[in-house]
Order: sequence, then C-alpha cells, then structure tokens
Amino acid sequence: MSIQSITPSLISPNINLPTSGQTLKLGIMASGNGSNFEAVSQAIQNQQINAQIQVLIYNNPGAYVATRAEKCSVPTVLINHRNYKNREDFDTKIVQQLRQWDVEWVIMAGWMRLVTPVLIEAFPNQIINVHPSLLPSFKGLKAVEQALNSGVTITGCTVHLVALEMDSGPILMQAAVPILSGDTSETLHTRIQFEEHRILPQAIALAASLGSNE
Ligand code: GAR
Repeated sequence: MSIQSITPSLISPNINLPTSGQTLKLGIMASGNGSNFEAVSQAIQNQQINAQIQVLIYNNPGAYVATRAEKCSVPTVLINHRNYKNREDFDTKIVQQLRQWDVEWVIMAGWMRLVTPVLIEAFPNQIINVHPSLLPSFKGLKAVEQALNSGVTITGCTVHLVALEMDSGPILMQAAVPILSGDTSETLHTRIQFEEHRILPQAIALAASLGSNE
C-alpha cells in the first residue's frame, strides 16, 4: 500500500511550477546521509526543476552525502566546523566557497549547524532549509522524537527561507504526516522524509518563482 493511499487527506498536492528559463545555481549544505541532496539531484535530472548543483558543502568527514555527490559528479567541499574557533569564522569560510562556486540559492538539506548573520546577510532570502516538523512546532534537534513524545497525532515537514532565529523564517511549503499507532522515530521519520523529498524541489522552484532574491 502506498503512503498516499493510507493518508490521502493529509498529503499536500503536487504542484507543477513553471521554472524560469534561467538555470538556478544551487549550493547544497548537508551534514549527514544526504537523501534530500539526492531528491534535489533527481528532480533536476527528471527536469522537474531547472537547476544545477554547483557544489556540496558538508561539515562531517565521512558523511554519506559526499559519496552521493561524487556519484553524480557534483564538486564537494568539506568544511569541518571543528577546525574553526567560532561560528562566524566557520560561516565566513562557507560564504567564501559558495561565492567561489557561483552559488545563487543555498539549500540546507540536513544541515545541522546554527547559522550566523555572516551567512544570512551574504544570501538574503536566498537560503532554504528543510526541517522534519510542522514549524513552528518542534524546532531544533530531534524534531521527530519531540513530536512523537508530545502526543500530537499529525506532524510533517517544512521548507522555509532561513532567518537568524533557529528553524524560523517565511514558510514556503509544508506537508502533513499522521503519527500512526506503533510508530517509532525511525518509521515516522521515513514517512516524513518521503514528503521532504517531494516538497523540497517544489519549494525551491516556488522560492525562485516568487523572486525572493530581489
Ligand atoms: C532531514 O529529515 C531534515 O529534515 C533534517 O535532517 C534530515 C537529513 O536527512 N534536518 C534538520 O533536522 C534540520 N533542523 P538527509 O541527510 O537524509 O537529507
């Protein structure tokens, strides 16, 4: 049984956004597995969005997202936060790399570091984040566990423009996911990620079509 057939009323519809003639130049930032990186890469290959991934920036040596990027010939840059004395210096290095790779839109796809004004001000309204809850509920780490432990019966995921306050900023798209009896954080996170992979590429196209970089 497909996920759609279990929960038809909770799934937001697919929307087909016109992608402008201009190819969006994406820089992806990720810390771990990279399934959202893969979803964006697939959406580009399938011509769902007119974009190119200029570079992957990752902060954890050995993160599987780097293997995924190498497999599809996306340049990778490891910037290990442990080598920087503060968040501002770390973000300064990231901005320098994003500029070097001519990035226009910054996509945080499982980026697990707090950001500073250094990054936000370098790419105003051009940084997009995906978070595994229906924001503003369950910000921060372990959002799936937070939802599971809270007693809510519906959670989901959010794609939003990034503001300075953690997991805040204008919401681009959300998708709801029901919490089923017997769910563990793993089973619930799997269903949430199914939705993340669907709405993240759509939200990138939406942000670009709204012209929020102007
Ligand atoms: C995703 O579920 C994303 O929403 C979450 O990390 C996961 C990364 O998965 N991000 C956050 O919690 C950020 N606050 P992935 O590495 O397989 O894309």
